[in-house]
Amino acid sequence: MRRVSIRLIVSAIALSVCFFVLMFIVNNVNDHTDHLELPPYKCECPLVVEHGLKAEKFGVPKIEAPFTSKIHTSSNNTQTVPPLPICKPVNKSEPVQRAIIIYYPHHQSEYFFPEVRWLYRSWAEMLRDQPPTWRTDFLIFSYNLSTEFRRLGCVNRIRKTKDEPSACRLFLYVPIQFRVKAVVENNYQHAFDHIKDLPKTTNQNIEEIVTLPKTNDPMIYDARRSENLYMHLRTYGYIDSINTIFEGYHTFKMYDFVLRTDIDVFIYRHFGKYIPANCTLITGGGGYGTDFNRRKLRRIARDMDFAHVGLSGMGSTWYGSAYDGYLVANQTLNGMLWLAQYEFATPERESKLGTLMWPEWHYGVLLLYGQHLAINHLVGTNQIRIRIGSDLLDQSTTDFTTQYVQQGTRLNLHCWHTDNRFSKFAFKMGHYKQAELEKYRNDTTAQAYAMRMALESKYMTLEQMASLVQNISTSS
Ligand SMILES: *[C@@H]1O[C@H](CO)[C@@H](O)[C@H](O)[C@H]1NC(C)=O
Ligand SMILES: *[C@@H]1O[C@H](CO)[C@@H](O)[C@H](O)[C@H]1NC(C)=O
Ligand SMILES: *[C@@H]1O[C@H](CO)[C@@H](O)[C@H](O)[C@H]1NC(C)=O
Ligand SMILES: *[C@@H]1O[C@H](CO)[C@@H](O)[C@H](O)[C@H]1NC(C)=O
Ligand SMILES: *[C@@H]1O[C@H](CO)[C@@H](O)[C@H](O)[C@H]1NC(C)=O
Ligand SMILES: *[C@@H]1O[C@H](CO)[C@@H](O)[C@H](O)[C@H]1NC(C)=O
Ligand SMILES: *[C@@H]1O[C@H](CO)[C@@H](O)[C@H](O)[C@H]1NC(C)=O
Repeated sequence: MRRVSIRLIVSAIALSVCFFVLMFIVNNVNDHTDHLELPPYKCECPLVVEHGLKAEKFGVPKIEAPFTSKIHTSSNNTQTVPPLPICKPVNKSEPVQRAIIIYYPHHQSEYFFPEVRWLYRSWAEMLRDQPPTWRTDFLIFSYNLSTEFRRLGCVNRIRKTKDEPSACRLFLYVPIQFRVKAVVENNYQHAFDHIKDLPKTTNQNIEEIVTLPKTNDPMIYDARRSENLYMHLRTYGYIDSINTIFEGYHTFKMYDFVLRTDIDVFIYRHFGKYIPANCTLITGGGGYGTDFNRRKLRRIARDMDFAHVGLSGMGSTWYGSAYDGYLVANQTLNGMLWLAQYEFATPERESKLGTLMWPEWHYGVLLLYGQHLAINHLVGTNQIRIRIGSDLLDQSTTDFTTQYVQQGTRLNLHCWHTDNRFSKFAFKMGHYKQAELEKYRNDTTAQAYAMRMALESKYMTLEQMASLVQNISTSS
């Protein structure tokens, strides 16, 4: 009895010493992070915007997010890593083929179609600055052949040659949430029954229409994972925008470069002439990294047997070779599945915590965490070269300085969760009027560009926009 209680006292003392040391460390870490600057935060939380309601603003506390682009080679893997694939840079004087790729949720068209309109309008604007031998297609994956896309001039064919004019292309794809048994069975035989009669009305050959997934090719279809995605991630809003980059690979592998992007972006004119140098995959910046989750993600990478090289702060826009995009998509899906199953509890997955845990650990940014694991692994195993291009991708649409325009570096603008101009929420609620277009006519800021593109896209008919693209892409 006596011996036990002495031991108890000793261990109690030891424990409290540990505790104080821990508190000290934690406090110091916090002190340390407090003075660092932070970039604006783009929330990847799946959007649920009630029609007519004022969109909720995220109360996001300030956090540090150093954009480390240095690779820390702290962990020396015992395995020998193969050398990086040989880099054959694309020659800018030769024809260059590119694709801007989105996934369009056809069942939420009221919310997303305005974004497609302005993205389409800005794609047309960018085409004006593109060298005459270059081509940039706008690729859309969706589960319906909505007439809107026909009116926009979108075709359902894969690019065949290097000199076809730049075009909008729509490919059919079964989203994860619709992969119920009746749809999946017999190799998705009945998955496209709902559009069977549509091609006839448009004199189109159904065989010509690309449908995904293609289940007979293991490179682009993994039945087990597809099932897992359905089971664990079908309610996660951004899963299809990644899965299409995996399952859709054969529809875009002929391009030298692809831009994977959300829909709420504007392609900026500088994109017209810019391609990634030195075979890098460029990502935008993402403000999700705290010391807490960087450590956690490193530990998770170890659990998964993934390499981790200390990269952090990658955003959700990717610009690089088609194959690099495919590799990142594949591993991002693996990372997201792991995280959803083993690193988040049910109440977190069901959003019961709201943004309580942000920025330390938040289910809404699962895509960014999954991609963090993927990119660290692929860089650590020499499969891709990365550049975190916070200076290149995803400038805020609220930026009213001319600095970046003069520097000529920004390739696209991305909407933030904000009510400041340009706000996608205010725009969709009809707060911006056509009469304001004049005000922004000679204004060269990002804000004015977004205002102009969005307003023009709203007041042009779909046929006018299609004709604009045709005029620009055939005149060069
Ligand atoms: C790490 O790997 C490199 C290359 O194989 C080797 O030269 C170096 O000695 C290793 N460092 C450690 C700490 O093991
Ligand atoms: C790029 O292409 C141009 C035109 O075909 C050619 O003159 C030039 O030598 C090429 N540059 C390189 C680095 O291959
Ligand atoms: C699919 O597109 C057709 C043609 O635009 C439209 O009539 C139909 O309502 C759409 N279905 C869904 C579910 O969006
Ligand atoms: C590409 O690599 C070369 C040689 O390593 C380097 O000089 C150049 O700055 C790199 N370009 C970019 C845009 O990183
Ligand atoms: C895709 O992910 C799977 C599962 O981790 C992996 O086995 C496979 O090698 C990956 N595919 C490629 C092309 O890297
Ligand atoms: C924009 O520039 C044009 C030509 O320089 C000029 O005629 C026009 O008045 C300007 N518009 C505004 C709103 O400043
Ligand atoms: C495209 O060109 C045709 C013929 O020149 C013209 O009639 C039409 O207005 C142009 N469309 C747009 C949107 O500029």
